Amino acid sequence: MPEWSVTCLDTIRNAEWDLPRAPRLIMFSPPYPPLRCYDEGADGAIGTDSDLSAYTDAIRGLLLNVKKALADDGHLVLNIGDSYCGKGDRRKSLNLLPERIAMELDTVGFIIRNRVIWAKQVWLADDTTRGATIPHGTKDRWLPSHEMCYLCTPKAMAYFDTEAVKIPKATQETRDPLPKEEWDALFEKKMAAAQKIYGDDPGQRLRIKTLRRMPPLEGRPIRSVKTGPDVWQGPVARNDFHPAEYPPWLCRRFIKSCTEPGDLVVDPMCGSSSLGVTALRLGRDYCGFDISESYVDASIQRITAQEAARESV
Ligand SMILES: C[S@@+](CC[C@H](N)C(=O)[O-])C[C@H]1O[C@@H](n2cnc3c(N)ncnc32)[C@H](O)[C@@H]1O
Repeated sequence: MPEWSVTCLDTIRNAEWDLPRAPRLIMFSPPYPPLRCYDEGADGAIGTDSDLSAYTDAIRGLLLNVKKALADDGHLVLNIGDSYCGKGDRRKSLNLLPERIAMELDTVGFIIRNRVIWAKQVWLADDTTRGATIPHGTKDRWLPSHEMCYLCTPKAMAYFDTEAVKIPKATQETRDPLPKEEWDALFEKKMAAAQKIYGDDPGQRLRIKTLRRMPPLEGRPIRSVKTGPDVWQGPVARNDFHPAEYPPWLCRRFIKSCTEPGDLVVDPMCGSSSLGVTALRLGRDYCGFDISESYVDASIQRITAQEAARESV
């Protein structure tokens, strides 16, 4: 059985995380200022005031600790949405949290491999908005409904299992190339059409040459697509433990691509350990940390229940 632990720790102010070995994946989602304080009793939790430079300083501190802990060929995934400024000159402006954090990642020396956009599935029904990043209280702007996931590495070369996440063949285009005679006939037709449009235009020869080099889509052999695009549409999740938990599908994609079974996965702001329950199900070891005692307890309760159910099967 995979091994796990969840510990109460302020992972910004403490660099010693007491891990059994270097994790291949560290993934976290910090609270956003000035909206979120998940546990009023947790002293030192970030995201509780509107001072953006204090917030980015705190995130930089955490990133330095992450860099120290992460395996050389590992990945960091940092998931962050945005919030609005509520007062002063910038009132009603986005706080640009993803952009500010991206600059911190760069400053700390991470290589930013992807800016994955998680486009949330949003339902607007009966005055209830489900799935939005921010509650929909305003009518003079669009509803924020996406978050960023920055995929970063400490070094240029990192472990990435393309096979584990590649798009299944069945969903790729698999049209065969046209037989040569059909392609030639099509080319003659296109050339005649180009002649009609461009006549003696001096650019015409060039256009026709380009046409010869680039068979039309229906005649081109389709190269196999290895990984999918970086915009992921998917639902939010709901559990009884935390108001801002990751959906399992999001964790699964990063765990499967960035780790092998037996690797260690870490969440330094673990909340209800949604990352942990998915990691353990996929045969990875897991260490979670949170500053809040009550979320540590919730994580332990959740993981213990899952692992007991697995053992009894
Ligand atoms: C957005 S929530 C994470 C939710 C989690 N991804 C899940 O699936 O349940 C952020 C967490 O960061 C924790 N946190 C805030 N400041 C912290 C700090 N300095 N050290 C460790 N954890 C902290 C909060 O208690 C909160 O549970």
